[in-house]
Amino acid sequence: MGGYTYAWTEDDVIIVVRLGDDDWAALSAVCTHQGCFVGYRAKAGDLFCGCHASVFELDGRVTAGPAEAPLRVYTVAREGDLLVVSGTSGDRGRGGANGSAGRVAGAARRG
Ligand code: FES
Repeated sequence: MGGYTYAWTEDDVIIVVRLGDDDWAALSAVCTHQGCFVGYRAKAGDLFCGCHASVFELDGRVTAGPAEAPLRVYTVAREGDLLVVSGTSGDRGRGGANGSAGRVAGAARRG
């Protein structure tokens, strides 16, 4: 486990991490510091930004700066062979409750 992939929506890039057979996490992949993409570190179980070394938990919280704001968290639901990623009410106003939705075909492949 621990593979991940990215999905592009109209207003965000989402990292989708496979945590278990049917257990997924999806967050904005856009670092809240200066906008680089974060990657999943399976060994640490966190998200790391290689530009300036910010670290985020899978619930979006910042555990190491310079980033200060959390990553936006999405919900993931499986529909057959597709993962459907939807925005949450805890977002930062980019797209509203369900404004950012995307479909991720197949399973996460990286990691
Ligand atoms: S852009 Fe991610 S830490 Fe600076």
